[in-house]
Amino acid sequence: MFRFNAKALASAKPIVGSVRYVRTINFAGTNEVVHERSDYPAQKLKEFFSGSPIAVIGYGSQGYGQGLNLRDNGLDVLVGVREGGESWKLAQEDGWVPGKNLFPINEAIDRSSYVLNLLSDAAQSSTWPQIKDRLEGKTLCFSHGFSPVFHELTKVEPPSNVDTILVAPKGSGRTVRSLFKEGRGINSSYAVWKDVSGKAEEKAVALAIAVGSGYVYETTFEREVYSDLYGERGCLMGGIHGMFLAQYEVLRENGHTPSEAFNETVEEATQSLYPLIGKYGMDYMYDACSTTARRGALDWYPRFKDALKPVFEDLYQSVKDGSETKRSLDFNSQADYRDRLEEELQTIRNMEIWKVGKEVRKLRPENVQV
Ligand SMILES: NC(=O)c1ccc[n+]([C@@H]2O[C@H](COP(=O)([O-])OP(=O)(O)OC[C@H]3O[C@@H](n4cnc5c(N)ncnc54)[C@H](OP(=O)(O)O)[C@@H]3O)[C@@H](O)[C@H]2O)c1
Repeated sequence: MFRFNAKALASAKPIVGSVRYVRTINFAGTNEVVHERSDYPAQKLKEFFSGSPIAVIGYGSQGYGQGLNLRDNGLDVLVGVREGGESWKLAQEDGWVPGKNLFPINEAIDRSSYVLNLLSDAAQSSTWPQIKDRLEGKTLCFSHGFSPVFHELTKVEPPSNVDTILVAPKGSGRTVRSLFKEGRGINSSYAVWKDVSGKAEEKAVALAIAVGSGYVYETTFEREVYSDLYGERGCLMGGIHGMFLAQYEVLRENGHTPSEAFNETVEEATQSLYPLIGKYGMDYMYDACSTTARRGALDWYPRFKDALKPVFEDLYQSVKDGSETKRSLDFNSQADYRDRLEEELQTIRNMEIWKVGKEVRKLRPENVQV
């Protein structure tokens, strides 16, 4: 547990001399520091951020989740987005009021002590020239290490006189919001890029809890961005999609019906087996399956691992050398990037496997009307 006294919080000075319990957890032999939400009740957060307005710049998935959670935590928060854009409209629908707590980006920054840069990663780069000179005396926070770590490509170099921190929720902003509303919190990581005040770490942890985190893990900007870009291209999204497609295609090429191919590839995975891995672990999932299934999976997983490892090695290299960042910036900076993305998503929607999925989902017990 990690505790400090209210007086120290009120003055927002580094906590020196007060008892501070930091939870150290042994993760399979490696000790890591973890902070938790219960160490920062609402009143302490209010005292910590008292007199320090927080500007949430951008109102995409993270701006929405983090902004509303900060507001519900009773903090002085304002949203900054471009006037007349989609986000300006969405923010108003969520109760942000122009001139009160909704402002154009520059004005929101000027009115704040904390600046949470939650623009799209491409927009962080293109708007940096207008933002960088307004940051003196403030604390700058990112939710991704992308912009500062790849500064040679993004041109985002936090000023040397500004506390610069990272609070990165491990999930979409929608989940940041829904878990907060359920009285729980998403896991996040935090890091310090530049500690000018001597309080940057404390600010990062407090901010992480304030935006709706449950447990907060220590990282670095580099580790966060490398693992994040790698993971989403790999097992979280790209890799798993590729594996589903390969398995489905071979089943179809061997005469299996669309529903059978889908059920054996996606439906059983997502509805029956993967939730077991999530809840109880891989060994439990093996244990829950037949001896025939177990024997086969135990024999084949090393072959899949060996076949895929070189692909993951290429991927990590492509993340680390900036190729993935360059590709993302080039694509997402184009004026028509939303239309082009939509075209690619349409291609996925039109794949046989995902069209079959739509029909299979209708037949799930919870979707069948009796
Ligand atoms: N989404 C996630 O799951 C997730 C998870 C963890 C961390 N993160 C990180 O959180 C940050 C925000 O991501 P996000 O997914 O919430 O947002 P996003 O959808 O990538 O970005 C949306 C915001 O960027 C603004 N924007 C785009 N182009 C702009 C421009 N040229 N000028 C001004 N504003 C512009 C949009 O405003 P308009 O509506 O006006 O276009 C909108 O408010 C990123 O650093 C991301 O890597 C995201």
